[in-house]
Amino acid sequence: MPQIEDRPVTQMKSQAASAVQGTRQLDFPKGFLWGAATSSHQVEGDNIYNDWWAWEQAGHVNFSSGKACDQYNRYEQDFDLAVSMGHKAHRFSIEWSRIEPRQGEWNEEAIQHYVDVVEALRARNLEPIVSLHHFTNPQWFTAQGGWIKSSSVDLFAKYVRKIVEAIGPRVRFWLTINEPMVYVQTHFVDGGGPPGKQSLPDALKVIEHLIRAHAAAYAIVHEVIPAEVKPMVSAAKNIPVFEACRKWSPLDRGVSWLTDRIFNSSFLEAITEGVWWVPGLPKVRMPEASNTIDYLGLNFYSRHFIECRWPFKVWIGHNCDLVSHGHHVTEKSGMGWDVSPKAFYQTIMRASKLKVPILVTENGTYMEDDSRRWSFISRHLEAVWQAQQEGADMIGFCYWSLLDNYEWIHGFKPRFGIVEVDYKTQERRIKDSGHRYAQVCKTNQLII
Ligand code: BGC
Repeated sequence: MPQIEDRPVTQMKSQAASAVQGTRQLDFPKGFLWGAATSSHQVEGDNIYNDWWAWEQAGHVNFSSGKACDQYNRYEQDFDLAVSMGHKAHRFSIEWSRIEPRQGEWNEEAIQHYVDVVEALRARNLEPIVSLHHFTNPQWFTAQGGWIKSSSVDLFAKYVRKIVEAIGPRVRFWLTINEPMVYVQTHFVDGGGPPGKQSLPDALKVIEHLIRAHAAAYAIVHEVIPAEVKPMVSAAKNIPVFEACRKWSPLDRGVSWLTDRIFNSSFLEAITEGVWWVPGLPKVRMPEASNTIDYLGLNFYSRHFIECRWPFKVWIGHNCDLVSHGHHVTEKSGMGWDVSPKAFYQTIMRASKLKVPILVTENGTYMEDDSRRWSFISRHLEAVWQAQQEGADMIGFCYWSLLDNYEWIHGFKPRFGIVEVDYKTQERRIKDSGHRYAQVCKTNQLII
């Protein structure tokens, strides 16, 4: 039986208040990659050539990213902060629209910028973990139909080749596409991000093209980076737990199984076996995608209780309201997301069946009260430790996020950072949770 159990909300509140504990010492494997993550559009500022920028300017969201954290200019200062907190690794993303602002036009200065960023990390002994795509695209790409078109795969591959050749053996850990299914859901099912589609046929095309693009990027990294460097490639896959809301209901169970199939297992199967399949649709064979995962970049935030009710949703069943179903009431984050270290543990154990090392590329929370953030982090780290004890090959953990940043449609209100950003002055301040996490990074152990 797992020892990771979610605790009742009341207990969590009192624990957070006394910011607590102090009895068990959990040791992590030697060389564990402790760090934090960011993405270009959320921190860099002035990403004027990408489709999210255009989406913001067109007024589809209430908040514009603007200067964000101005990290494009302040990355050295931010990496110094990470070092002062004992981090050993740092995840960031390359902004395609800076590299190729117009089709076929390569911006050498921007390319050099990312080479410098990687050098700055290396100079500080921070292992770079590089994402090639994190939700944004050049405007010209989206204007041509973007990921809906099959040409997207080659266009993406050209950019990948360009940047991988420039960065070369300086980077070992690569992430091809960040959260492909979240991207598809937000941008092509819910219509909440560019190009604002709400179309199942388009969403299905995009899934196929993202898988093929991942496979192409995998092949390019292995072709370009010398084998001695042992390049490691993965997608960053968010693997939430989907549970039936009413466990007795065969309909809820069926829909939560289907949701998991669409969101989680079909993608994982595609990049391991080269076949994408969901019930009711023809299998899509993509042999080039088989075995294109050297490690798993795992993102985890939450668990979802799925309910089957009218109007029936084919994509992802309704998330039930946790409060109205009293039997599920657990702790929630400032985003209203269910907090469940137990689900994280379950996800890791499930992922460990892929038989590749697991690097947590995102796990984090927005909580109004920072002491609750530390409570969240420590319990999720406990889940990592527990899974590792039971055989999961855990190699690192990147907290999301290093800095408070631009949280897409929610603007700057949700603050996920362990470092607070004053958006007026661009001053940074390490939060108490950041200091506590630093203790773990520095000692390689968690005291709870
Ligand atoms: C995304 C991040 C985002 C975070 C918190 C992840 O799904 O990769 O871009 O900020 O969730 O919402």
